[in-house]
Amino acid sequence: MPAIVFATSKGGAGKTATAQCIAGTLASDGYRVAVIDADPNGTLSRWHEKFRSYPLTVEHQIDENGILPAAERLEAEHDLLLIDTAGFGNRTTVFAFGAADLVVIPAQPSSSDIDEAIKTTLSVQSAARMARREIPYRLLLTKAKATSVTKHALEQLEARGIPLLRSALSDLTAYREITWAGTVPTDRRAAPEIRDFLAELAGMGLLPFYKHTNISSVLGSNGAVA
Ligand SMILES: Nc1ncnc2c1ncn2[C@@H]1O[C@H](COP(=O)(O)OP(=O)(O)O)[C@@H](O)[C@H]1O
Ligand SMILES: [Mg+2]
Repeated sequence: MPAIVFATSKGGAGKTATAQCIAGTLASDGYRVAVIDADPNGTLSRWHEKFRSYPLTVEHQIDENGILPAAERLEAEHDLLLIDTAGFGNRTTVFAFGAADLVVIPAQPSSSDIDEAIKTTLSVQSAARMARREIPYRLLLTKAKATSVTKHALEQLEARGIPLLRSALSDLTAYREITWAGTVPTDRRAAPEIRDFLAELAGMGLLPFYKHTNISSVLGSNGAVA
Protein backbone atom coordinates (compact mmCIF):
# COMPACT_ATOMS: atom_id res chain seq x y z
CA MET A 1 0.00 0.00 0.00
CA PRO A 2 1.61 3.27 -1.07
CA ALA A 3 1.66 6.04 1.55
CA ILE A 4 1.59 9.75 0.77
CA VAL A 5 2.27 12.22 3.57
CA PHE A 6 1.13 15.85 3.42
CA ALA A 7 3.45 18.00 5.48
CA THR A 8 4.76 21.49 6.03
CA SER A 9 5.40 23.36 9.24
CA LYS A 10 3.34 26.23 7.82
CA GLY A 11 -0.33 26.20 8.86
CA GLY A 12 -2.95 27.05 6.26
CA ALA A 13 -0.81 25.92 3.30
CA GLY A 14 -3.38 23.40 2.07
CA LYS A 15 -2.29 20.07 3.59
CA THR A 16 -5.74 19.09 4.78
CA ALA A 17 -7.63 20.41 1.73
CA THR A 18 -5.29 18.56 -0.62
CA ALA A 19 -5.53 15.33 1.38
CA GLN A 20 -9.34 15.66 1.36
CA CYS A 21 -9.40 16.15 -2.42
CA ILE A 22 -7.27 13.06 -3.04
CA ALA A 23 -9.13 10.95 -0.49
CA GLY A 24 -12.63 12.00 -1.58
CA THR A 25 -11.94 11.72 -5.31
CA LEU A 26 -10.34 8.26 -5.09
CA ALA A 27 -13.00 6.98 -2.67
CA SER A 28 -15.68 8.17 -5.16
CA ASP A 29 -13.87 6.14 -7.81
CA GLY A 30 -14.28 3.07 -5.60
CA TYR A 31 -10.74 2.79 -4.25
CA ARG A 32 -10.10 1.88 -0.62
CA VAL A 33 -8.43 4.89 0.93
CA ALA A 34 -7.21 5.14 4.51
CA VAL A 35 -6.30 8.45 6.11
CA ILE A 36 -4.30 8.96 9.27
CA ASP A 37 -5.07 12.37 10.69
CA ALA A 38 -1.90 13.14 12.63
CA ASP A 39 -2.87 16.72 13.47
CA PRO A 40 -3.93 17.36 17.10
CA ASN A 41 -6.55 19.76 15.69
CA GLY A 42 -8.23 16.76 14.06
CA THR A 43 -9.62 18.83 11.20
CA LEU A 44 -9.83 15.96 8.72
CA SER A 45 -11.18 13.40 11.15
CA ARG A 46 -13.87 15.80 12.42
CA TRP A 47 -14.82 16.56 8.81
CA HIS A 48 -15.20 12.85 8.11
CA GLU A 49 -17.16 12.24 11.35
CA LYS A 50 -19.51 15.11 10.57
CA PHE A 51 -20.32 14.39 6.92
CA ARG A 52 -19.38 10.78 6.21
CA SER A 53 -19.57 11.69 2.51
CA TYR A 54 -17.08 8.99 1.46
CA PRO A 55 -16.38 5.41 2.53
CA LEU A 56 -12.98 6.33 3.98
CA THR A 57 -11.14 4.77 6.88
CA VAL A 58 -10.02 7.74 8.95
CA GLU A 59 -7.94 7.32 12.09
CA HIS A 60 -7.00 10.22 14.34
CA GLN A 61 -3.54 9.27 15.53
CA ILE A 62 -1.36 11.88 17.20
CA ASP A 63 0.78 9.54 19.29
CA GLU A 64 4.22 9.54 17.65
CA ASN A 65 4.58 5.84 18.48
CA GLY A 66 1.17 5.09 16.99
CA ILE A 67 1.84 6.23 13.43
CA LEU A 68 3.87 3.31 12.08
CA PRO A 69 1.70 0.62 13.78
CA ALA A 70 -1.41 2.33 12.36
CA ALA A 71 0.12 2.38 8.88
CA GLU A 72 0.98 -1.33 9.18
CA ARG A 73 -2.51 -2.17 10.46
CA LEU A 74 -4.23 -0.33 7.59
CA GLU A 75 -2.02 -1.86 4.92
CA ALA A 76 -3.91 -5.09 4.20
CA GLU A 77 -7.35 -3.58 3.66
CA HIS A 78 -6.53 -0.46 1.63
CA ASP A 79 -5.20 0.63 -1.76
CA LEU A 80 -3.66 3.86 -0.49
CA LEU A 81 -2.71 5.55 2.78
CA LEU A 82 -2.70 9.33 3.19
CA ILE A 83 -1.26 10.98 6.28
CA ASP A 84 -2.29 14.56 7.05
CA THR A 85 0.08 16.20 9.53
CA ALA A 86 0.09 19.20 11.87
CA GLY A 87 1.19 22.68 10.85
CA PHE A 88 4.24 22.75 13.11
CA GLY A 89 7.41 20.70 13.43
CA ASN A 90 6.73 17.66 15.65
CA ARG A 91 7.88 14.10 16.14
CA THR A 92 4.61 12.54 14.96
CA THR A 93 5.27 14.08 11.54
CA VAL A 94 8.84 12.70 11.55
CA PHE A 95 7.46 9.19 12.13
CA ALA A 96 4.97 9.80 9.32
CA PHE A 97 7.98 10.53 7.05
CA GLY A 98 9.20 7.06 8.05
CA ALA A 99 6.09 5.53 6.44
CA ALA A 100 6.11 7.77 3.33
CA ASP A 101 6.60 6.77 -0.28
CA LEU A 102 6.20 10.46 -1.08
CA VAL A 103 6.02 13.58 1.06
CA VAL A 104 3.90 16.28 -0.58
CA ILE A 105 4.78 19.72 0.78
CA PRO A 106 1.99 22.18 -0.03
CA ALA A 107 2.97 25.85 -0.23
CA GLN A 108 1.24 29.01 -1.27
CA PRO A 109 3.40 31.34 -3.35
CA SER A 110 4.31 33.41 -0.27
CA SER A 111 7.68 33.95 1.33
CA SER A 112 6.67 32.39 4.67
CA ASP A 113 5.15 29.32 2.99
CA ILE A 114 8.28 28.81 0.89
CA ASP A 115 10.55 29.24 3.94
CA GLU A 116 8.59 26.63 5.92
CA ALA A 117 8.48 24.33 2.90
CA ILE A 118 12.29 24.49 2.65
CA LYS A 119 12.57 23.75 6.39
CA THR A 120 10.26 20.78 5.87
CA THR A 121 12.49 19.43 3.07
CA LEU A 122 15.40 19.48 5.55
CA SER A 123 13.33 17.47 8.07
CA VAL A 124 12.46 14.91 5.37
CA GLN A 125 16.15 14.63 4.48
CA SER A 126 17.05 14.06 8.15
CA ALA A 127 14.35 11.40 8.47
CA ALA A 128 15.68 9.73 5.30
CA ARG A 129 19.18 9.63 6.79
CA MET A 130 17.77 8.17 10.00
CA ALA A 131 15.78 5.54 8.08
CA ARG A 132 18.75 4.85 5.75
CA ARG A 133 16.54 5.03 2.68
CA GLU A 134 15.46 7.64 0.19
CA ILE A 135 12.23 9.46 1.08
CA PRO A 136 11.08 11.34 -2.03
CA TYR A 137 9.47 14.73 -1.51
CA ARG A 138 7.90 17.30 -3.82
CA LEU A 139 6.54 20.75 -3.27
CA LEU A 140 2.94 21.34 -4.40
CA LEU A 141 1.97 24.90 -5.22
CA THR A 142 -1.44 25.68 -3.68
CA LYS A 143 -3.74 28.72 -3.85
CA ALA A 144 -1.80 29.49 -7.03
CA LYS A 145 -2.56 32.50 -9.20
CA ALA A 146 -0.83 33.51 -12.42
CA THR A 147 0.86 36.58 -10.91
CA SER A 148 4.38 37.97 -10.67
CA VAL A 149 4.42 36.78 -7.04
CA THR A 150 3.89 33.17 -8.14
CA LYS A 151 6.59 33.60 -10.79
CA HIS A 152 8.99 34.93 -8.15
CA ALA A 153 8.16 32.05 -5.76
CA LEU A 154 8.81 29.52 -8.55
CA GLU A 155 12.17 31.19 -9.33
CA GLN A 156 13.14 30.98 -5.65
CA LEU A 157 12.28 27.28 -5.56
CA GLU A 158 14.25 26.59 -8.71
CA ALA A 159 17.25 28.52 -7.38
CA ARG A 160 17.14 26.41 -4.20
CA GLY A 161 16.77 23.17 -6.16
CA ILE A 162 13.50 22.26 -4.46
CA PRO A 163 11.67 19.61 -6.54
CA LEU A 164 8.24 20.84 -7.57
CA LEU A 165 5.20 18.92 -8.80
CA ARG A 166 4.06 19.90 -12.29
CA SER A 167 0.47 20.06 -11.14
CA ALA A 168 -0.72 22.88 -8.91
CA LEU A 169 -3.95 23.79 -7.16
CA SER A 170 -5.33 27.22 -8.00
CA ASP A 171 -6.82 29.61 -5.51
CA LEU A 172 -10.47 28.58 -5.92
CA THR A 173 -13.56 28.93 -3.76
CA ALA A 174 -14.32 25.29 -4.55
CA TYR A 175 -11.44 24.25 -2.28
CA ARG A 176 -12.68 26.52 0.51
CA GLU A 177 -16.12 24.93 0.30
CA ILE A 178 -14.86 21.45 1.24
CA THR A 179 -15.07 22.04 4.99
CA TRP A 180 -18.61 23.40 4.74
CA ALA A 181 -20.01 21.13 2.05
CA GLY A 182 -18.46 17.85 3.21
CA THR A 183 -17.64 16.88 -0.37
CA VAL A 184 -14.62 17.59 -2.55
CA PRO A 185 -14.81 19.69 -5.74
CA THR A 186 -16.37 18.18 -8.84
CA ASP A 187 -16.67 21.49 -10.75
CA ARG A 188 -15.05 22.20 -14.10
CA ARG A 189 -12.11 24.16 -12.71
CA ALA A 190 -11.02 22.31 -9.57
CA ALA A 191 -11.87 18.72 -10.55
CA PRO A 192 -9.46 18.64 -13.53
CA GLU A 193 -6.68 20.00 -11.31
CA ILE A 194 -7.26 17.19 -8.83
CA ARG A 195 -7.26 14.65 -11.69
CA ASP A 196 -4.03 16.18 -13.03
CA PHE A 197 -2.45 15.81 -9.63
CA LEU A 198 -3.63 12.18 -9.43
CA ALA A 199 -2.29 11.53 -12.94
CA GLU A 200 1.08 12.96 -11.92
CA LEU A 201 1.17 10.78 -8.78
CA ALA A 202 0.22 7.78 -10.93
CA GLY A 203 3.00 8.68 -13.37
CA MET A 204 5.44 8.57 -10.44
CA GLY A 205 4.30 5.00 -9.77
CA LEU A 206 2.52 5.94 -6.54
CA LEU A 207 -1.00 4.82 -7.49
CA PRO A 208 -0.51 1.41 -9.13
CA PHE A 209 -4.24 0.66 -8.77
CA TYR A 210 -5.44 3.89 -10.41
CA LYS A 211 -7.21 3.83 -13.77
CA HIS A 212 -6.96 7.38 -14.98
CA THR A 213 -10.19 8.70 -16.46
CA ASN A 214 -9.25 11.66 -18.58
CA ILE A 215 -11.81 14.01 -17.10
CA SER A 216 -9.97 17.06 -18.48
CA SER A 217 -10.87 16.06 -22.02
CA VAL A 218 -14.50 15.63 -21.01
CA LEU A 219 -14.74 18.92 -19.19
CA GLY A 220 -12.58 21.00 -21.52
CA SER A 221 -9.28 22.66 -20.82
CA ASN A 222 -8.18 22.88 -17.25
CA GLY A 223 -6.91 26.08 -15.69
CA ALA A 224 -3.88 24.62 -13.90
CA VAL A 225 -2.71 27.98 -12.61
CA ALA A 226 -5.61 30.36 -13.14
N1 LIG B 1 -6.24 25.73 -3.42
C1 LIG B 1 -6.95 26.41 -2.52
N2 LIG B 1 -7.69 27.48 -2.90
C2 LIG B 1 -8.40 28.20 -2.01
N3 LIG B 1 -8.45 27.94 -0.69
C3 LIG B 1 -7.76 26.88 -0.24
C4 LIG B 1 -6.97 26.06 -1.11
N4 LIG B 1 -6.39 25.08 -0.36
C5 LIG B 1 -6.79 25.29 0.90
N5 LIG B 1 -7.61 26.37 1.00
C6 LIG B 1 -8.23 26.94 2.21
O1 LIG B 1 -7.20 27.49 3.02
C7 LIG B 1 -7.42 27.19 4.39
C8 LIG B 1 -6.27 26.38 4.94
O2 LIG B 1 -6.17 25.17 4.23
P1 LIG B 1 -5.84 23.79 4.98
O3 LIG B 1 -5.91 22.73 3.96
O4 LIG B 1 -6.68 23.65 6.20
O5 LIG B 1 -4.32 24.06 5.40
P2 LIG B 1 -3.36 23.22 6.36
O6 LIG B 1 -3.96 21.87 6.55
O7 LIG B 1 -2.04 23.19 5.65
O8 LIG B 1 -3.28 23.99 7.65
C9 LIG B 1 -8.75 26.42 4.47
O9 LIG B 1 -9.77 27.34 4.78
C10 LIG B 1 -8.92 25.88 3.05
O10 LIG B 1 -10.29 25.79 2.73
MG1 LIG C 1 -4.54 20.87 8.31
